Amino acid sequence: MSENIESHLEEKRIFKPSAAFSKKSALGSFKAYKKLHAKSLKNPEKFWAGEASHLLWRRKWKKVLRWKLPFSRWFDGGQINASENCLDRHLDGPRRNKAAIIWEGEPGERRTLTYQQLHRQTCVFANVLKRNGVKKGDRVLIYMPLVPEAVIAMLACARIGAVHTVVFGGFSSESIKDRLADSGAKVVVTADAGYRRGQVVPLKQNVDHAIEGNTAVHRVIVHRRANLDIHMRDGRDVWWHQEADAVDANCPPVPLDSEHPLFILYTSGSTGKPKGILHTTGGYLVGTASTTRYIFDLREEDIYWCTADVGWITGHSYLVYGPLANGATCVLYEGAPNWPEPDRFWKIIAELGVTILYTAPTAIRAFMKWGDEWPKKHDLSSLRLLGSVGEPINPEAWMWYHKLIGGGRCPIVDTWWQTETGAILISPLPGATPLKPGTATLPFFGIDAAIVDDKGREVPHGEGGKLVIRKPWPSMLRTIHGDKARYKKQYWSEVKGSYFTGDGARRDKDGYFWIVGRIDDVLNVAGHRLGTAEVESALVGHPSVAEAAVVGKPDEIKGQGVVAFVTLREGHAASPELADQLRRHVGQAIGPIAKPDEVRFAEALPKTRSGKIMRRLLKQIASGGQISGDTTTLEDFSVLARLGNNTGE
Ligand code: WT7
Repeated sequence: MSENIESHLEEKRIFKPSAAFSKKSALGSFKAYKKLHAKSLKNPEKFWAGEASHLLWRRKWKKVLRWKLPFSRWFDGGQINASENCLDRHLDGPRRNKAAIIWEGEPGERRTLTYQQLHRQTCVFANVLKRNGVKKGDRVLIYMPLVPEAVIAMLACARIGAVHTVVFGGFSSESIKDRLADSGAKVVVTADAGYRRGQVVPLKQNVDHAIEGNTAVHRVIVHRRANLDIHMRDGRDVWWHQEADAVDANCPPVPLDSEHPLFILYTSGSTGKPKGILHTTGGYLVGTASTTRYIFDLREEDIYWCTADVGWITGHSYLVYGPLANGATCVLYEGAPNWPEPDRFWKIIAELGVTILYTAPTAIRAFMKWGDEWPKKHDLSSLRLLGSVGEPINPEAWMWYHKLIGGGRCPIVDTWWQTETGAILISPLPGATPLKPGTATLPFFGIDAAIVDDKGREVPHGEGGKLVIRKPWPSMLRTIHGDKARYKKQYWSEVKGSYFTGDGARRDKDGYFWIVGRIDDVLNVAGHRLGTAEVESALVGHPSVAEAAVVGKPDEIKGQGVVAFVTLREGHAASPELADQLRRHVGQAIGPIAKPDEVRFAEALPKTRSGKIMRRLLKQIASGGQISGDTTTLEDFSVLARLGNNTGE
């Protein structure tokens, strides 16, 4: 009986950085990475202090780290303002007139804001917030489409020390209600509506429903986005543009303690009540700015596009704070990737000359499913670097991304991190790290990542276990808002002295980290513990499969049986023969132990709005049970109804 997670899939393809890329990048060789990483682990505080010195501090810190497990204080005694670092700092030189944001709305309109313009509008909106009673420390709930005003609202909060809590514009009234109650926000910033797949999403109306009978919310500030006729409640609701006319543009940034809260972001997770992850100012900014610079290899002339919404941590860290702190030009796109056609992303890249693209495996697999002709229609030669985040990227999806989008010339940074970690912790450094499809490779500087067994002992390379981080890092969450006990229990009780990520992983012979799935999803088949990711990657490696999710179901003999839900690529049809073929395919790729007992074909898989497959729901379906528990984060409810018992017959 094996105690640790077994691994059977071995990736042999390796992609060394090109000499041309390495020559220009911040860190030109693998040797340089290894040396600097070893040095940074000996004295992480020294490394982070060096990174912090790239930022503008109003008062220097007294101590880099105060650590009382599991509570950290970074750059204690220092004062800093995130909005000042993202805006004011760039106004003295040529960046003043550089594009900070190039925005494209789903209907097709475009707006460009220079750093000077973004600064001015942020100052104005910060004054609007003050005029509407927002004070330092107050929570402000932001529920917006992906328009520049969403970024402006975040930066305006940061400017005056208000704490933003962004709720993804695709979430329902119910989600707003829960997050309002938990955060205690009294002011909401929203828009009349946003656009998604050609539909008008009535955001203000959702806010109205959420705050019905809630007397705590005293102000709703509404940005006019879609000219939708909406109800404005007297004495409570005000228009952004009218308020802006009533204030001036002079709003000096408030120096804030390094540990002043910057934002609360709720992770829906796939189970239970959402957790309000609390991030603070100084450490978070150091972590995001530093990782953006190294991992995205930012250069002054780059046009950088992170496709995440501001409603997710990726949007916070790598659409707003990280890139703007580095003075980058960021693309912002409001809508769906397949609107009006499945080539919208490629059209934007060609027309704007995007050089860096950062997106998610779920999107990449969708593009694969829609067919190669869409990216092939466009000139993607401006791209020089690709990124991936959110889930393990299946090796076949990696290869597709590399060839079809990157033209074989762009390194891919597969970045592993979490809402809780604030910034990327495991990732290749382009130009330095040799890449292998499917692995996030090695830890960033100052990050002490390890894989341990149930007793907390590090396991040998090749064996699977729990992914933990053994030293604190500046952008780590400080607590769960209002629930210290849950913070301790969730992250610090599983493995003594270490932060437990909840992920299962293994290291290969080169020490590279492979995420095998969430620990809660690990299968136990006849005493063999299998991660979900490998079985899924094997399935996606079959030419007919677009996407796969693997779950266990109770089995009298084996303990657990393997059930695979798959969606097919365009041009392939479900049949019992194909199901058989797929079972054999997995058997060959991994071994008989991983062969699915059942293959079920689906039109779509149930996912969270951020694109993660909700295996918890699939488990219930596979076991023939009723769906129970929280389904409010599900993207498309009709998917559940359509997930019948389709074995291709
Ligand atoms: C979980 C965190 C980090 C921003 C988006 C998701 C999974 C994330 C990777 C990756 C394999 C990954 C992990 C992690 N994950 N990136 N590159 N390779 N798995 O944030 O919603 O907080 O989810 O996403 O399971 O724990 P999140």
